[in-house]
Amino acid sequence: MRMRFIFLFVILLTKIYADSDAYNRGEMLFFANACSSCHGPSAEGSSTYPRLANKKSSYLKKKLIDFREGKASSVSQQMMAQFAKKLSDQDIDDLSFFLSNHKEVPVEDVQDDILGGFGS
Ligand code: HEC
Repeated sequence: MRMRFIFLFVILLTKIYADSDAYNRGEMLFFANACSSCHGPSAEGSSTYPRLANKKSSYLKKKLIDFREGKASSVSQQMMAQFAKKLSDQDIDDLSFFLSNHKEVPVEDVQDDILGGFGS
């Protein structure tokens, strides 16, 4: 009984650890691939670019795979396809995980980062 509990606990911890890994990789990819420059640093979107934060992971994944395959029927989709072209399957998984579970970063934290903590 006790062994079983420990076993389940270890599985749970492993899952939490793997998820936070995917989140961090996704976040890193989001900034490294300039996704943030169009979709916004919090993936919040704008009048020109769609919001990505907290959309369904399966939806984001399908969109990115379609773009990567060059499915684009407008100029703005072609622009997006350019950025999806270089993503691996793993990249798409991690980006979709990060975006669908996106946690809002308070603006003050971002300012602190930019100003190296001398801002406040
Ligand atoms: C140059 C600007 C630009 C960059 C950089 C960019 N995107 Fe986009 N993205 C767009 C535009 C414009 C659309 C909307 C295309 C359309 O009309 O359907 C879009 C659409 C999307 C969609 C579909 C959203 C939806 O709700 O249908 C996803 C997912 C996405 N982008 C992810 C990314 C990721 C991940 C990156 C980085 C690898 C990225 N984008 C980089 C401009 C950009």
